[in-house]
Amino acid sequence: MKFFIDTANLGEIKEAQDLGVLDGVTTNPSLMAKEGISGTDDVLAHYKAICDIVDGDVSAEVIATDYDGMIKEGLALAKLDDKIVVKIPMIKEGVKALKYFSKEGIKTNCTLVFSTGQALLAAKAGATYVSPFLGRLDDISTDGLGLIKDIRLVYDNYGYTTQILAASVRHGMHIVNCAKIGADVTTSPLSAITSLLKHPLTDSGLAQFLSDHQKSAGLL
Ligand code: E4P
Repeated sequence: MKFFIDTANLGEIKEAQDLGVLDGVTTNPSLMAKEGISGTDDVLAHYKAICDIVDGDVSAEVIATDYDGMIKEGLALAKLDDKIVVKIPMIKEGVKALKYFSKEGIKTNCTLVFSTGQALLAAKAGATYVSPFLGRLDDISTDGLGLIKDIRLVYDNYGYTTQILAASVRHGMHIVNCAKIGADVTTSPLSAITSLLKHPLTDSGLAQFLSDHQKSAGLL
């Protein structure tokens, strides 16, 4: 399963890249705004800076919600770097834009997906990735992982190659459960990825190994 980091913060992306398990980056307009990035030139420069840090795909979301606007923005983003994946919201104009980019061989990520029907449309439009927001469903007491399972079933039934990019991931158990289900990617804050490291028995076991070594070496 691929690990993407869900941030526009260059420091966090660099830290995740240095960890050695990062496969890509996702951003969205809120994450870009959080970094104070606005204005076309600044946005393009920031996405290029992200592409220069990581080896994998970088999702860059359009702002436009009309077809022509999405195409114009998406083409400008795609020209930045081969790593760029044009991120398009699951709306009617977006489905048409996904189809256009698919025919042009430009990678896409269909975002703001909350139902199996929406994921089916994204696959039929040729999206490279589909981003079901499991955390936001959990937040309203709806089964986010159940959506991931249903999309996996439907995609496997018909051999769709669209990759399930589980988004809105809140913690390590979301990552583990998405891996059990067979999501292709999870995108999450770095903290969710590093939380996978932690187990109290690992900590206590290492402490015991070191203590026993030091005793036998006469260091204690
Ligand atoms: C994917 O890139 C999504 O935009 C992101 O995971 C949403 O996460 P949130 O629900 O924490 O805003």
